[in-house]
Amino acid sequence: MEFETTFYQKFPKDFRWGTATAAYQIEGAVSEDGRGPSIWDTFSHTPGKTLHAENGDVACDHYHRFDQDFDLLLSLGITDYRLSTAWSRIYPQGHGRSNPQGVAFYDRLIDALLERGITPAVTLYHWDLPEALEASGGWRSRDTAFYFRDYAAFMFQKYGDRVKLWITHNEPWCTTFLGHLMGEHAPGLRDAKMARAAGHHVLLSHGLAVDAFRGLSNVGEIGITLNLNTVYANSDSDADQGAQDWADTMSNRIFLDPLFKGQYAALTDAIVAPADPDLIRSDDMAVISRPIDFLGVNYYSYSVVAGDPAAITTAGVRDVTPHDEVTDMNWPVKAAGLSDLLQRIARDYTSIPLMVTENGAAYADRKIEDRVADADRVSYLRRHIEALAVALDAGVDLRGYYLWSFMDNFEWAFGYSKRFGIVYLDYETQRRIPKDSAYWYRNLIREFHQVQS
Ligand code: FCB
Repeated sequence: MEFETTFYQKFPKDFRWGTATAAYQIEGAVSEDGRGPSIWDTFSHTPGKTLHAENGDVACDHYHRFDQDFDLLLSLGITDYRLSTAWSRIYPQGHGRSNPQGVAFYDRLIDALLERGITPAVTLYHWDLPEALEASGGWRSRDTAFYFRDYAAFMFQKYGDRVKLWITHNEPWCTTFLGHLMGEHAPGLRDAKMARAAGHHVLLSHGLAVDAFRGLSNVGEIGITLNLNTVYANSDSDADQGAQDWADTMSNRIFLDPLFKGQYAALTDAIVAPADPDLIRSDDMAVISRPIDFLGVNYYSYSVVAGDPAAITTAGVRDVTPHDEVTDMNWPVKAAGLSDLLQRIARDYTSIPLMVTENGAAYADRKIEDRVADADRVSYLRRHIEALAVALDAGVDLRGYYLWSFMDNFEWAFGYSKRFGIVYLDYETQRRIPKDSAYWYRNLIREFHQVQS
């Protein structure tokens, strides 16, 4: 047994054990069947933006191989799958005329999942804004929020008979900070005012999509996914507590507060930039904080911070996180950060169901004669899944766990250098080779169902 019977019994019977991917990271076929370009096509084709100038032109060629990929998912006993749809396949220009071939692609893809008894959870925005909308101001423009609502409404109407789990946005933090403040992600901007506007419009677009969803009858549940990072203070000192306050706002409250409290956290102006006078309009915070059905949580790492007046560029916050155990991303590992995080959300923010919509780790996997012995990943996953049980024991309403990722894929600015999959991708041949962790996960799911039946 991977875990004790009593361990499995802590989970609800219908707990979702899944894996996750995102469109631009796996699909490829970027110019096929009428797909319009997205900001990630532009960004990855701009010299100096991604490692080795890699891009998602081909990626895992999932566009042509999804049947085979879903057979593999099924053979691993994984019956929940989180995917994202590419806005620019549906609306090549971001709005206006929809593209029948793009629509048909996701019809086929969703049907292929359902035929195999796999339940899709669909994310509408995993960072691939249609380039045409970027040209008219991207997320800095309020109009984009309304175009997103229209795209979302189209998706609910078109696929809502079959898709019952919807996620509006993946990680608004990354869109805002990595995309508009640090320039590490598309569209590659470095401007605090722009970041503030982008973050607000992403949230607004989420709320508008929720409203559109509630107006329909054939639908299931809707939520949003945030990347959250458990922040610990180095000590009880006032200086360290102050640093924790700042770093926790930067990582967590920045999006949790508007979504669940209907207001921006006090430090937001200082951390990003003050909002322009006409940015936040009278009804916006009410729209942003509309009730949702679940919250998706992506958890990878944690931090420990100390107050240090000398750390001028980071507002007196010094990162003192131990790096005794890190993944190939150099992200420090702490599984208890996940249970602490889930409990904190339940305590401070909301009692709605939570789902871990991403968790996993990159390691420098090596394929030796068709085997990838990724014991480090198994260890990482095992400890984080144990952390789920700790949260459940503490009374957290946790409904699912989607492991990142089903297969190795295009890891954004890191290109293909970082491998997060439980399935290994040989990019030269497009062969898929399940790693040891895939078989480990299969066994876990199998045992879970045996215990629960
Ligand atoms: C998350 C992203 C996902 C993947 C993982 C490693 O921030 O949502 O696409 O890149 O990190």
